[in-house]
Amino acid sequence: MTQSCTILTFILLTLSCSLTSQNGDNYVQDACSVTRYQDICIHSLASFSHTAQHSPSRWARAGVSVTIGEAKKVSKYLMIHRSDMIVEGRNKIALLDCIESFQNTIENLHRSLDVLRKLNFQEFDSQMGDVTTWLSAALTDEDTCSDGFDRQKGKVVKSILNRVSNVSYMTSNALALVNKLTTTGPEALKKD
Ligand SMILES: *[C@@H]1O[C@H](CO)[C@@H](O)[C@H](O)[C@H]1NC(C)=O
Repeated sequence: MTQSCTILTFILLTLSCSLTSQNGDNYVQDACSVTRYQDICIHSLASFSHTAQHSPSRWARAGVSVTIGEAKKVSKYLMIHRSDMIVEGRNKIALLDCIESFQNTIENLHRSLDVLRKLNFQEFDSQMGDVTTWLSAALTDEDTCSDGFDRQKGKVVKSILNRVSNVSYMTSNALALVNKLTTTGPEALKKD
């Protein structure tokens, strides 16, 4: 009796866990379906599934927020290599420009997140307009950063370019989530 109860409990727990995780996966997959880099989207946003569910504004905030985290990491990585003698010539100049571009990127991402946290019915359109502008500017700055490097040269440059691309993909995804919120309109705020 005790044993069969244990087994039954085990089965029920397993069942409820797998159902929960399936629901969670569906939320994030659904949200990420509007993005261009879906694997990166799902990987970076899976942990928001249960809190964001079907709320476009929560997904938009999550998208920008994880991008800020990654952009800060990459910015630190760039700083570390600023005084690296392996990076020289054209690539040294590109690196210094890139550090500046990334500071602009992070600033624009922060401004976007601040507004996404203060969305309201009256100002919704102009707020979304601002966020779209700032995220597009962040994307441009990231592109400007990668453009400066001579791709032929070395492991560090390759690693920098990979990391910068990663942030670009995440920014592009965030922009798609923001566009989704814009097209849903201020009614989306009711789901917050
Ligand atoms: C890209 O960003 C994710 C964080 O979302 C990180 O786990 C991954 O290591 C990064 N990839 C590269 C190439 O930096």
